Amino acid sequence: MFKPQFTSTSPVGIFDSGVGGLTVMHSVSQLMPNENIIYLGDNARLPYGTKSKETVISYSIECLKFLLKKKVKIVIVACNTASSYALPFISRLTKIPVIGVIEPGANAAVSNTSNNHIGIIGTAGTVRSGSYARKIKRKLPEAKIYSKACSLFVQIAEDGWADNKIAKLTAKEYLTPLRESRIDTLIMGCTHYPILKKTISNVMGKKITLIDPGIETAKYARAILQKKNLLNKSKKKGYRKFYVTDTPNNFHVVAERFLEEKITQVNKIKIS
Ligand code: DGL
Repeated sequence: MFKPQFTSTSPVGIFDSGVGGLTVMHSVSQLMPNENIIYLGDNARLPYGTKSKETVISYSIECLKFLLKKKVKIVIVACNTASSYALPFISRLTKIPVIGVIEPGANAAVSNTSNNHIGIIGTAGTVRSGSYARKIKRKLPEAKIYSKACSLFVQIAEDGWADNKIAKLTAKEYLTPLRESRIDTLIMGCTHYPILKKTISNVMGKKITLIDPGIETAKYARAILQKKNLLNKSKKKGYRKFYVTDTPNNFHVVAERFLEEKITQVNKIKIS
């Protein structure tokens, strides 16, 4: 057990396997601009999506420990794969709230569906874990779930190809079976997929609602902080601090595109 040491001005901690979690940070930042935020991207060990449950759990424990040393008041596991595999384990290691993206995303899908047919796209790990399906079924036992791993979307998003012909072709290939199912709601169950929202929506059609778990998680985080009286009351914009376990050359370019904000300093650290 790690002893909690925080106040309402303590930072919100967010971790992900790399740069993708910045889409979740974007939602948190939009909803709670005055919160201080510490972001950790474990990009030396990216991707998590293809790794085993045991490996993702051990990486996630190290990410959690790093954020706890920074005295954060809440930890948001932005990575869908880490949320799927590791959240039940790591949330027991501390008294501060540790939340993932699965439950908020699943709840939003359940609230949205009218015909109980819900689609899930994510990494191989997220799909294999059955995490979204489990949460959905708990609330809506009669739900019919259709899932598909869309691994190439991660690289396409990072390469800035979100709207080009390769993205369109890839989306068509992955998503046609889902489009032909009866789903009315599709969870974009990977940090990178909201970058491809337009392309995904073009394939799926306007009638299908796309759920961004990052947006739902930001709302959930705010509700928890509010309940615990831990919202930062400051009127000023909070600080943002970035930590990564590796610094690829194009990190800033991709990061700023995902976050939609300028990033000044990124600190390289060792956590393992
Ligand atoms: N962040 C991961 C997720 O949301 C995608 C990238 C990876 O596989 O590490 O599952």
